[in-house]
Order: sequence, then structure tokens, then C-alpha cells
Amino acid sequence: MSATCVIGLQWGDEAKGKLVDLLTEENDIVVRFQGGANAGHTVVFGGKKFKLSLIPSGIFRPEVQSVIAGGVVINPASILNEIDTLRGQGVEIGKNLIISDRAHVIMPWHFEEDRIMNTLMGHGEAIGTTMRGIGPCYRDKVGRSFAIRFGELFRSGIEEKIAYITKIKNRFLAGLASDDQKKDLTLLDPDQITRDYKGFAERLKAHLADTTRYLLDAVDANKRILFEGAQGALLDIDHGTYPYVTSSNSSGTGVSSGSGVPASFIKRMVGVVKAYTTRVGGGPFPTELDNEVGQKIRDRGNEYGTVTKRPRRCGWFDAVAVRYTASLSGTTDIALTLLDVLSTFDEIRLCTAYELDGEKIHYFPANIEDVARLKPVYETVPGWSEDLSGIRSFQDLPQAAINYINKVSESVGKPVSIVSVGPGREQTIFRN
Ligand code: GDP
Ligand code: IMO
Ligand code: MG
Repeated sequence: MSATCVIGLQWGDEAKGKLVDLLTEENDIVVRFQGGANAGHTVVFGGKKFKLSLIPSGIFRPEVQSVIAGGVVINPASILNEIDTLRGQGVEIGKNLIISDRAHVIMPWHFEEDRIMNTLMGHGEAIGTTMRGIGPCYRDKVGRSFAIRFGELFRSGIEEKIAYITKIKNRFLAGLASDDQKKDLTLLDPDQITRDYKGFAERLKAHLADTTRYLLDAVDANKRILFEGAQGALLDIDHGTYPYVTSSNSSGTGVSSGSGVPASFIKRMVGVVKAYTTRVGGGPFPTELDNEVGQKIRDRGNEYGTVTKRPRRCGWFDAVAVRYTASLSGTTDIALTLLDVLSTFDEIRLCTAYELDGEKIHYFPANIEDVARLKPVYETVPGWSEDLSGIRSFQDLPQAAINYINKVSESVGKPVSIVSVGPGREQTIFRN
């Protein structure tokens, strides 16, 4: 039995989808274990581009079982849309997709709460969520009283439960909304919600499963399991740049709690990092380049959100932050992606230390106010002019690019085993 994980080590969008699609070939099962439709993963092959939010990026190989485990929060309407879109693109989806009965369901009130809360941050900047109801759904999961699990949609008593929760949520939303927001607030209708969600459940019935038991049996049967992280370790609810994070454990620490598979079975933890850094939404970002260099990275990397289309904030590679998240996630090796984007820069910078209140430090601070005051200390290396997108072997890379890869590896303290030079499957260099 061997389990491999693909985990983003920055603030998301590191090209996890591409990596998972590639590594699925050598696995029997691929599992999403946290997050929800806030994720936007892209897979490109055969001249086609596929976007995935909730469905594992391994779905393109029908012989591999795709699993949405209990730690995920699911929006049934969005999953049905995704299934329809993928089927329309010729992807086979049937028994090869199972969804946990333990996964929590995003309900209409979660979207309303996300919308109201996001503009209500009275202090500091807004988190800038994806507005997919993620935080409110996880809040209800932890709070327990108003939560609905996927399996419950199929059992008797769900009508009464929805009616009861809707009544309380209507009171809650009315109290939460500012006077301005009250104008846009429409009361939630329990009958309509029940009809909608029973309809969704009917269409998703074939996919319902106890995925924890399924995965534990797979462990006993020596199956090869691939875990697909969503978001990135700096967005982890416990270990990221709190409160500017998502509401789940998006570092390597979440694999076991989200899936039920014991951490001791994980043999390989691939940390995915971009050759630079991006962030969507609010919160401090020490190496951010709010200038023409940042804009050049955005243009060359087409750095606009997969989910919300927002322009992504761009900056140099932050080796101090990645050294921290690589350790936190138990990273065995690094996949360095979007290296092609850095061609044509005369010089490239990497942050290898910070200055905090005049003192040089080499760790990532726990406190968000300290993170906001960090000044990056850079090392500058020569760039390269060559286009990398057609290169398929490590030794064919320009020497300056090889030096940069070695510098990333050395400053993060992990080997770089995979280099990605374009979105396509074939635009990948496996080092060994
Ligand atoms: P994810 O959320 O981690 O799966 O990443 P996203 O799919 O949100 O963002 C990564 C984007 O970069 C997608 O548009 C990919 O198609 C694209 N991409 C992936 N790898 C490479 C690469 O090596 N070079 C370039 N230029 N684009 C890439
Ligand atoms: P993938 O899987 C990048 C960010 C949002 C916001 C914060 C909280 O594609 O890498 P949420 O809606 O989760 O409550 O928003 O987290 N965020 C992501 N940023 N990639 C993602 O997913 C993200 N999912 C959430 O922009 O700052
Ligand atoms: Mg993404």
C-alpha cells in the first residue's frame, strides 16, 4: 500500500490539477479530502482544457476510482453542473465517482452568509472569499446544530430538518445584515429548498458511499491512493496566514482527517510550488510586486482566477514561506511549476530571509500583524531569454534555469523532482 499526496505549498493555484492528472496514471484511486467548489483546478491534454472544482482531477482515467471524501463540503448543484459539463466534453462519469455520506452540504443560507460577512469585516481588509459558502458551511459543521451531511439528504426526516434550520437561518440572516444589505435579503423558503435538494439527491444517488470504509478497505487491499489537495498550505485554517485563510486544513495536515486514511500510510508528499508566488483575495503577501514586474508575471502566467476570474496578486518566490509549508506538510519532493513564465526576465529574485522590525529572521511568523510588517530579503540570480515550453529533458534547460531550480531546492531544503514548463501533460520534466 502506498499513498501519494499532491499539496500546494503557497496560496493556491500552484497547478495541483495538472500534477494530479499526471500522477493518476500510476494510482488506483484519487481522493479530494478538503475544500469545496472554492477550488479551481485545470487539466490540459489532447488540445482540450478541463476545469474542475469538486471532482478529482483523476476523473479522466475511467479505470481509476475518484473519491470525494468526508472532509469536503459539497454544493450538490455545482457538482451536478460539473458532471454535466465534463460529460459534455466526453468524460465518462458513473460508478467511477463516489461521494461521502459524511461530506457536509452547502445550503442556500451559506451563500447568503458568505456574501453578508464578506462585506462586514469591520476591522482590517476583507478576506475576499470565493463566495462559494465554504466558511459558513464549515462553521455549521463545527457548530453541529445546523449542519446537514450528504447522507442525510437521502433519509427520512430531512424535510423537517430543513424546515427547522431555515426558520432559524432566516432570523440569523435578518440579524446579521446591515440596513443596506437588508434590502437585498429575500427570505429563504424551506419548501423550495427541500424540493431542490431532494431533486439534487435523486440525481446524485448513484454516487453516495461510505468513502471512509471504502478507503480503509483499499488500504487493506494494498491499493495505490493519490490525494489531491485544494488551496495551498498558506491558506490552512490552523497553520496559514490566519484569518486570511480558507476554512479547512489545506496543508498536508488535512489528508488524514479529511479522508480517514491514517497518516502513516502516506509515503510520498509532493509539494507543488510555482516558480514565483500568487495570491487571490485579501491578506499579507511579503514578496508581492505591485508594479510592472508583477504585471509582467500576471500577463505571462495568465494569472486570473479559475473560479472567480479575479486578477491574481503576483510576486517573487518566497523560499522562507515554502520552507515552512514544506516542513509542515511532510514534503518529500517538490514539483516546480510555471517555470516557463519566468523566461525573458533579466534577473530573478528569491526571498531567502525577512526583515522584521530591523531584525533579520529566517522563519515564517505565526502572527498576522508580524507577517504584514515583513520586508523580504532577496537573493538575485541571472534570468534566461529562451522559451522553455518545448523543452522535455532537464539537461536541455538553459543553465540559468537549472541554477534557479537548484537555488529553489537548496533554499527550501527539498529536492525538485518535477518541473512543469506549460499547462499540457507533455510539458513536464520528470527528473529521475
Ligand atoms: P490549481 O488550482 O493548483 O490546480 O491551479 P490552477 O489550475 O488554478 O492554475 C494553474 C494554471 O496554470 C492553469 O491555468 C494551468 O493550465 C496553468 N499551468 C499549469 N502548469 C503550467 C506551467 O507549467 N506553465 C504555464 N504557463 N501554465 C501552467
Ligand atoms: P485552488 O484549489 C487560490 C482563497 C480565496 C480567499 C480565501 C478564502 O484552486 O488552489 P474561501 O472561499 O475558501 O472561504 O476563501 O482563500 N482561496 C483560494 N485561492 N486557490 C484556491 O483554490 C482557493 N480557494 C480559496 O481567494 O482569499
Ligand atoms: Mg486553482
